[in-house]
Amino acid sequence: MVDRVFVVSDVHVDATANAAWVRGLRDRRGCAGAGRDVLCVGGDVSDDVEEVRAALEEFQARGFAEVFYTFGNHECWMNAEDERVGRETSVSKIRDLLAICEEMGVRTRPGKVGDGLWIAPLHSYHHRGFDTEPEVDAPEVPPVERVMNDFRFARWPDNLSDMTDDVARWCDGLNDHGWDEFVASIEPGDKVLSFSHFLPRLELIPEKRMLFYPRLAQASGSEFLRKRVDTLKARVNEGNLTHAFGHTHFGWNQTLDGVRYVQAALATPSEWSKRPRSLEIGEFTNLSEEPLCVYEHGEFVEGQRAMWSDYYAANERAPEDVELLPHARQFIRQRWGPGRRATVSSDASSLHPGATGVVERR
Ligand SMILES: [Fe+2]
Repeated sequence: MVDRVFVVSDVHVDATANAAWVRGLRDRRGCAGAGRDVLCVGGDVSDDVEEVRAALEEFQARGFAEVFYTFGNHECWMNAEDERVGRETSVSKIRDLLAICEEMGVRTRPGKVGDGLWIAPLHSYHHRGFDTEPEVDAPEVPPVERVMNDFRFARWPDNLSDMTDDVARWCDGLNDHGWDEFVASIEPGDKVLSFSHFLPRLELIPEKRMLFYPRLAQASGSEFLRKRVDTLKARVNEGNLTHAFGHTHFGWNQTLDGVRYVQAALATPSEWSKRPRSLEIGEFTNLSEEPLCVYEHGEFVEGQRAMWSDYYAANERAPEDVELLPHARQFIRQRWGPGRRATVSSDASSLHPGATGVVERR
């Protein structure tokens, strides 16, 4: 029996306050009413393998009966420690991480956790083909490979290019093992909570004209991931599939075509101080003593408010409108307009996805 299921993404334990958040989670061992809680960790824990291991151990030590995990883009960044241990590519790093999870009993494959509830971590990576919406009118905005750190710090084998669909397809293939059997085992009345680091749908990111970096969608999601979610959707009754995601650092709770999508990102302390409202979902903030609870008493917990998904509940998406909003226009002019010489390193240092799409509506 499962009591509750919690989700969190983008734990970024390199931030001291985030490491403290992990250590400060309520210890549920011996707590009445917390007999069998499950936690889903949706990637971007750290680019340091040992830090990922330590955080997952800490989650286990907090008394979660099961911890599920998938990696994010940060886990694909190569660092000095990888060099020291002879880890050559992001592929070997992902494989090492999945092996460590196996050793630790952290689950990286779909499984039933009781009372008709499946948890399905879906491994993924971003590719620019995910973005099918028109470009905004901002020729000064640099291409995604110059701005996003992933293109500098991840290192893929020669046969996998991150400029095409290769890496996203390879990462999606990590889900293949046992997939058909898993899908076939889902009964129509079952519930499924799937989760990924990246976005399975373009509607889960604010439109380009509102973003400080309008090409963010090109490094945010995966069509391969969307197909996995669609496959799960076809197996369950309406309302029985929730998908949690991360990466963009926006609180989110939206139902699209009968699937509910949520994001609860721990993100970074500076993001919480600059734009708390776009990060919150329901009661969840970086000061919460719990991750976001999405399942309790045999049902999905619903109704959490989140700024951007509330905005899209009231406003149609209009991607054909390619005119930048004034705040974005101003930011982009200042940063990349004539006479500005934003270098690759300065772009990269300040344009983590979470730092880019800032519009706080008051
Ligand atoms: Fe990410």
